[in-house]
Amino acid sequence: MSLTSSTVPTVTLNDGEQIPQLGFGVFQVPPEDTADVTTRALLAGYRHVDTAAAYRNEAGVGQAVHAAGLQRDDVYITTKCFNDDHGFDQAKRALHESLKRLEMEHVDLYLIHWPVPSADKYVETWKALVELQQEGLTRSIGVSNFQPAHLERIIAETGVTPAVNQIELHPYFQQVGLRREHGEHGIVTEAWSPLAQGKVLEDAALVEIAEAHGVTTGQVVIRWHLQLGNVVFPKSVTQERIEQNFDVFGFTLTDAQMDAIAALDAGVRTGPDPDTFVRP
Ligand SMILES: NC(=O)c1ccc[n+]([C@@H]2O[C@H](COP(=O)([O-])OP(=O)(O)OC[C@H]3O[C@@H](n4cnc5c(N)ncnc54)[C@H](OP(=O)(O)O)[C@@H]3O)[C@@H](O)[C@H]2O)c1
Repeated sequence: MSLTSSTVPTVTLNDGEQIPQLGFGVFQVPPEDTADVTTRALLAGYRHVDTAAAYRNEAGVGQAVHAAGLQRDDVYITTKCFNDDHGFDQAKRALHESLKRLEMEHVDLYLIHWPVPSADKYVETWKALVELQQEGLTRSIGVSNFQPAHLERIIAETGVTPAVNQIELHPYFQQVGLRREHGEHGIVTEAWSPLAQGKVLEDAALVEIAEAHGVTTGQVVIRWHLQLGNVVFPKSVTQERIEQNFDVFGFTLTDAQMDAIAALDAGVRTGPDPDTFVRP
């Protein structure tokens, strides 16, 4: 096994911690395949894995990290508190359970997965995350799928600003307003479904840019995220794509190419609407 350290840049969070800007997502990786897929990602050079209790594959992520023989500090692990674990005590318990499945003493980043506004417990849940960070069970804390009103409320009621907001973001759904709001609060933007689960990859404008650089459209889209400053973690179970998605540091998109991709924004979500998504 060759596990040399990678050349991925890091982004500094508002609590002073560093996060590798490119990682590996494991949503929809079957639990029984996750240790193998994550091992292949680590071998390809990824040192940041994004999982969640709801993905039911934290155990596989943990197994791969332990089997790789890496120092714990050499791998950045994110997991998330799901909708049925909102509430102060329950959220605290949820991280303990995730840590057991990961077989780890701490994670690097713990997120509230969805705000679930109809339950109205995300402020309490956020207070639990603040305490979990103070206890050292997670280095950083953040949120996912939070809209501006949700962000403003947790900041106003606790005085603690999330380090990141992990949101759906890709060329067809660029979230310009929310990214601006993040910038104003010093919140790092993490992009989920960065490739729109493959739906953007045949776009004619992206094909033209990919041909100009001799790369794939997937590589162009990941490069676009990195140049915007997003933290990004494409998912693939396919060896060639796992390697390809990590090989994005040998070319740079021009300003004109960044503008051409900006023009693709259609304001169309592929995933659920955070204002209404409640699925436990
Ligand atoms: N916080 C949230 O609510 C939330 C929601 C969704 C996702 N996420 C996170 O974001 C991560 C990534 O998002 P995602 O998994 O939804 O979608 P994605 O990364 O945008 O796309 C994954 C899909 O694209 C395919 N693919 C990957 N690389 C490719 C390439 N180079 N060329 C062609 N096809 C390629 C994969 O196929 P194969 O696997 O078959 O190769 C898979 O079907 C997740 O794994 C998860 O960690 C978070």
